[in-house]
Amino acid sequence: MRQIAVTNQKGGSGKTTTAVNLGAALGEKGKRVLVLDLDPQASASAWFGVKDGGRGLLDVFAEGRPLAPLVQATCAKGVELIPASPWLVGIEKALAAEPGTETILRRALERLPPRWDFVLVDCPPSLGLLAVAALAGCGEVLVPVETRVMALAGLAGLVQTVERVRDRLNPSLRLTGLLACRVDARTRLSQDVVQTLRERFGADVFQTVIRENVRLAEAPSFAKPITIYDARSSGAEDYRNAAAELLKRDKPPQGKQRKR
Ligand SMILES: Nc1ncnc2c1ncn2[C@@H]1O[C@H](COP(=O)(O)OP(=O)(O)OP(=O)(O)O)[C@@H](O)[C@H]1O
Ligand SMILES: [Mg+2]
Repeated sequence: MRQIAVTNQKGGSGKTTTAVNLGAALGEKGKRVLVLDLDPQASASAWFGVKDGGRGLLDVFAEGRPLAPLVQATCAKGVELIPASPWLVGIEKALAAEPGTETILRRALERLPPRWDFVLVDCPPSLGLLAVAALAGCGEVLVPVETRVMALAGLAGLVQTVERVRDRLNPSLRLTGLLACRVDARTRLSQDVVQTLRERFGADVFQTVIRENVRLAEAPSFAKPITIYDARSSGAEDYRNAAAELLKRDKPPQGKQRKR
């Protein structure tokens, strides 16, 4: 089971769009996928038509409850969801002083039945407790980067956080890659950002780029991933290509089973 934190502290970088649609594209390919919505804004949950995740994930963090009972079906083949809990909003303050909070999610993920090939964790736009808990609990981190703005400044901080988490909490954490999102071939800026990403991060950048596609922005209102909402759109094509590439970018699973 590959557990991937989809993270970038910058708001609006394409995390939710990527977690939902990459998940759906993997499901289409016959993979079993669990999308875990760790963002109290609950965008991924709303995308799948789930309005209220209740206390759900809060009890996982506050009381060490298991994740499995929170799993729900979705309309997408092969994809299940653990919805966000709006109660997670106050968690940073509530649990900041509790020892071991950062690794609670890891223990919960370890106790999941091995029913899924992928767990995709949609992180909130911060490098706070929830994002760190995702990095501490997952084997991999996938970073969507919005290319309509010069969004590279924050990446150094993110890479530093990943390195710190690797040093202190999760030695087997690996970068799956950076995924350029909202790429607009008509603008020079977008092309420049992609080029700069490739110069700076080399092979860590997915060959696939996710193009700007209005169908992707529309899909959440219809509570369907792009592969169902508009199966022939460029958005569906791009996320299918990203899924194929993700399968090739196979990383050794974390923990004891790790083969090297
Ligand atoms: N490839 C794309 N084409 C067009 N619109 C896109 C694309 N990717 C994302 N968007 C739009 O950009 C906005 C931000 O995307 P998204 O919600 O996925 O980012 P996020 O990183 O999850 O944001 P947040 O930090 O608030 O959680 C959304 O309105 C989404 O519909
Ligand atoms: Mg989001």
